[in-house]
Amino acid sequence: MRSDAVFKCVCTFHRRQSHGAGDARESVGSVESVHTSEDMRLVICVAVLVAVAAAHRAPPHRVHQQAPQHEPPQPPPLLTPQSTCSAPVTRLRDGNFMPRFGFGTWLGFDENQVPIPVTDESVQLAVEMAIDAGYRHIDTASIYHIEDQVGRAVNKKIQEGVVRREELFITTKLWNDAHRREAVVPALRESLQRLNLTYVDLYLIHYPIATETKAFKPYADVDYLQPWPGMVEAHQLKLTKSIGICNYNKTQLQRLWDSHEVKPAVLQIETNLNLQQAELREYCHDNDIAVIGYTPFGSLFPNKLRPGAPPPRVDHPMLVAMAQKYNKTVPQIVLRFNYELGVTPIPKTVTKSRIYENLNIFDFTLDDFDRRDLKNFDTGFRVVDVKFFSDSPYYPF
Ligand SMILES: NC(=O)c1ccc[n+]([C@@H]2O[C@H](COP(=O)([O-])OP(=O)(O)OC[C@H]3O[C@@H](n4cnc5c(N)ncnc54)[C@H](OP(=O)(O)O)[C@@H]3O)[C@@H](O)[C@H]2O)c1
Repeated sequence: MRSDAVFKCVCTFHRRQSHGAGDARESVGSVESVHTSEDMRLVICVAVLVAVAAAHRAPPHRVHQQAPQHEPPQPPPLLTPQSTCSAPVTRLRDGNFMPRFGFGTWLGFDENQVPIPVTDESVQLAVEMAIDAGYRHIDTASIYHIEDQVGRAVNKKIQEGVVRREELFITTKLWNDAHRREAVVPALRESLQRLNLTYVDLYLIHYPIATETKAFKPYADVDYLQPWPGMVEAHQLKLTKSIGICNYNKTQLQRLWDSHEVKPAVLQIETNLNLQQAELREYCHDNDIAVIGYTPFGSLFPNKLRPGAPPPRVDHPMLVAMAQKYNKTVPQIVLRFNYELGVTPIPKTVTKSRIYENLNIFDFTLDDFDRRDLKNFDTGFRVVDVKFFSDSPYYPF
């Protein structure tokens, strides 16, 4: 991720506002040294014209104006309201902006690798709390079966005036049963209906694996490149602002890159202490693809522990000592490490105190020694290995 592209949107917004006002004041101020009445009349006319022009030039509150060609483009109103976005934002390769910290909404697998069923409204409540807390980037997927809950939470917060749609960054994902080119747009339209939104900010291909139904088998004989033109069409139809992929390995990503003119803006992959993904991150960095990191805690907590998972656990002495040193918690240290790798973490929690805890990582920096120690936990161990797909010719791991 390009660190220079990361900035606090609110600063830019204030800079832009004060810059516009400054232009007007400087122009009118030059009247003082003129003495003759003829000159004075002329100058007053000019001054009035300049002031009017400057007033027109100054961007009104929260309204985006096209940046002049010679200036670097400024962020649109997305995420600009003061402090309602608690994370920095980054510019994607397609020009859109993405908050560098998100909120996960998947309930996960049980100990038998079976998806935990949705039985209550806990995700809706969690998303509402997250938006109240300052999260603006929400990650969901059609296969999570909670798009309706995410949509209700988002629309409720918009109606309450807590947030505007343009300030939010909503991601959803194409499931494996809709990989044929012509199936992509209808699948996204169905997601939008469940979300009760007219567009998403990011649409991702969930896996490079195609199936005939929503079940994990049978596979469909559909190459993982096939959905991409459908994704491009979804973007052209303005059903999504950005498009990308999840879980493609480097070879698959390279093949997609080489074969299509429109490139993915984002790759979403598992990234945590045990799986730091140096090779894929480097490829993405070199090609200006943003990396979103899912399952950022890896096997830190007993309830997400995969059998055979290497250390660390949340009570690991080195992590505990580090947390004390920075006056932070172990989960915050882990999220900050992910963030400093250039990854956009999207931790999930339905617990109010953790929603706030996880977001509170933008007031400290890990030092080089600690970063190096944390790097040593990288063993390549994967939590979400979807082994049930391992007999697919396109299994990415
Ligand atoms: N593209 C993909 O293929 C893919 C795959 C997996 C995940 N994802 C996305 O990534 C998101 C995050 O990944 P994930 O849900 O697998 O794992 P995760 O965010 O690493 O871990 C979630 C677990 O950690 C617990 N937790 C969160 N914050 C905590 C804290 N501060 N202290 C203690 N426990 C804490 C949560 O418990 P509580 O909820 O009980 O608080 C939950 O059990 C998902 O929700 C989903 O949106 C995408």
